[in-house]
Amino acid sequence: MPPLVIEAEELDPLPSAWLSERCRVERCGAGEARFGALLAEAEGLIVRSYTRVDGALLSRAPRLRVVGRAGVALESIDVPACRARGVEVVHTPGANTRAVVEYVAALLADALRPRVYLDRAVPDEEWHRYRRELVAPKQMDELTLGIWGFGRIGSAVARLGAALDMRVMYHELLEIPPARRAGATPVGVDRLLSESDVLTIHVDYRESNRGLLSADALARCGPEVLILNTSRGLVVDHAALAAFLRANPRARAVIDVHDPNEPIRADHPLLGLPNARLTPHLAACTETAKRNMSWVVRDVWRVLSGERPECPAPNLA
Ligand code: MLT
Repeated sequence: MPPLVIEAEELDPLPSAWLSERCRVERCGAGEARFGALLAEAEGLIVRSYTRVDGALLSRAPRLRVVGRAGVALESIDVPACRARGVEVVHTPGANTRAVVEYVAALLADALRPRVYLDRAVPDEEWHRYRRELVAPKQMDELTLGIWGFGRIGSAVARLGAALDMRVMYHELLEIPPARRAGATPVGVDRLLSESDVLTIHVDYRESNRGLLSADALARCGPEVLILNTSRGLVVDHAALAAFLRANPRARAVIDVHDPNEPIRADHPLLGLPNARLTPHLAACTETAKRNMSWVVRDVWRVLSGERPECPAPNLA
């Protein structure tokens, strides 16, 4: 009998079909009534961002051998609890790097180049008013791009900044060899915060990064900084960011990832602020990235076949 694998969140059809040729695949969200019965039999479980895999779920999954995370971040999966029960966890680092970098490019263009799209012929006066008012105060080649976290995505964002002739600096705990810096300058956190015109965050989801962009860190940022967060919601203290944006009306933030809740609730501290823009965790949303992430099924199958997976989850503190 082929092993039962639950797809708890939507995958791209191609990898999903590939898995169905090898396993019994059931598509069933954790909130559905039949999930418990399936979980009792399942040997594999595939999730994306919104299924919590914790001790409680594991205790209902006595036959589980592998959890596949279609994506990078693992904060919704208790990896040590899985491993303690002999359940391997696999994920897809790198699958959405290009998509996230493109999204950062889109946010930069939106924030730094004001524009209007015409859907009709406009009177002369309106035309010329747009040309008077929609003027970027600075070109990108006059701005400093600060990158907090210089892993796969951070370093690719540095190449983007370099291509736009921005002055690029980064802060990273690991030593990056000069050949991999893409021309960016390593700096301490103080310099990063105080000199960045655009501060973009690309650290990972580990708990020790919680609240990294704190009230204290924000106090060191310039009053016109543009803050982008496409990494993880837990990295930003959203209440502190709201206070900073109120006190500095020319500062702006575009926040794609949220904590503690996605979807966000009505009491999100940044809602209603004119200089905060919230997006619904879209950075990895390209068809290509979705397909790349969904190929986690290969590692799921490797584990179920008794082979070593290519991308086991790291043990992050
Ligand atoms: C990730 O951690 O890779 C992203 O959250 C994936 C996603 O957006 O689904």
